[in-house]
Amino acid sequence: MGVQWLLVCHGLVTLLVVVSFLCGRWPIFDGTFIQRIHIFLTFGAYDYFQRFVNYIFGTKGTNAILSIEYYCCDRPNPILQAIYLAIIGATYYFIVTSSFNYIPGHYIGGIHRYLSVVAVGVGVLLFLLTSFSDPGIVNNENFSRYVSVYPYDNAIYIEKECSTCKFTKPARSKHCSICDRCVARFDHHCGWMNNCIGERNTRYFVAFLIWHFILCVYGAVAIALILAGQLKESQVIYILTEFYGIDNSFGSLAPHVVQWFLGSYNTQILIMVFLAIVSLLLAGFFGYHANLCLTNTTTNETFKWHEYLSWKRKVNEARASAEALKSSLAELSQEKPPQSKWKTFFQRSPLKDTEPVKNNIYDRGYIRNVSEIIFPLSSRQLFKQYKSKSG
Ligand SMILES: *[C@@H]1O[C@H](CO)[C@@H](O)[C@H](O)[C@H]1NC(C)=O
Ligand SMILES: [Zn+2]
Ligand SMILES: [Zn+2]
Repeated sequence: MGVQWLLVCHGLVTLLVVVSFLCGRWPIFDGTFIQRIHIFLTFGAYDYFQRFVNYIFGTKGTNAILSIEYYCCDRPNPILQAIYLAIIGATYYFIVTSSFNYIPGHYIGGIHRYLSVVAVGVGVLLFLLTSFSDPGIVNNENFSRYVSVYPYDNAIYIEKECSTCKFTKPARSKHCSICDRCVARFDHHCGWMNNCIGERNTRYFVAFLIWHFILCVYGAVAIALILAGQLKESQVIYILTEFYGIDNSFGSLAPHVVQWFLGSYNTQILIMVFLAIVSLLLAGFFGYHANLCLTNTTTNETFKWHEYLSWKRKVNEARASAEALKSSLAELSQEKPPQSKWKTFFQRSPLKDTEPVKNNIYDRGYIRNVSEIIFPLSSRQLFKQYKSKSG
């Protein structure tokens, strides 16, 4: 009896920690305890730890922590890469040891012993490809080539020099502070891959995301099929109805079946829960990036647009209030009868007409946007055509 509740609690706590750690800053969790857990996990706990170390070891301890933090978070390092390999290795290991002796089963063919190796192998291959591929490094010799690929939109990109690299920064590029280099069509620096995601490896990154989503769903479904087969082969339903006199209806059988599963196959159930949670997260992440690819936007640009629009809005507000001040001063000096309050109330706000809009000049329709991800512009000679079309 106790084991099941332990398992359920374990599942819930894992879900809560993973979700709040990874998604706690999402707007839907604003002001909820998920956000509070996120803050504790990301800053709070670390802050307490720092204070604790400072209390015990003094300044020396604090300095040690700071240099470790610098090494882990501000420099390229393979820690998260090792963690990824450990997670995928351990998960596959537990699946093999706990479930392979049921393959082939009633609902699952023997081929999945080999198919699963291939599927995991492809996943690791995509990981290595993303980690060690060229994200589109811009350097002194070839920056002009990248400059000619994308025009400056004069909104979020204006022509200027990278203060570190000392060359003209191509539109859509960013200087990665961790890797200390400029990267074309910079998306983000991915700690898991220990590499920047840019013009030339976004394709591998997105392939990695969707493949790992498929991998998790595949694993969860395969284990579910194994368990369904076990249920059938061990004739649990028959025993429950014939020998224990339980009603042959879903409602009365389900709790007993669940209890039987949790008692006899707890490892498999745990793996399934884990895979289901990870596949949900990957689905969300993949959906986000698929949307970015379709609209030809980078993660970096979503931040830039956010900043740009709120800056524009402030400028417009200032301009509108200046106009209002000017016109009321004019009214005062002309001593016109004041406008009716109602009329002012129903008048369209001047802000509405000048609401800043996001005008993404790089968005050229789904098909071309996606083909640009698959065949980066800098590695094909089509950018002249691109330039003439977009002006
Ligand atoms: C520019 O040079 C870097 C570093 O050698 C290289 O990784 C990148 O692919 C080059 N880009 C182009 C367009 O040749
Ligand atoms: Zn730079
Ligand atoms: Zn980087």
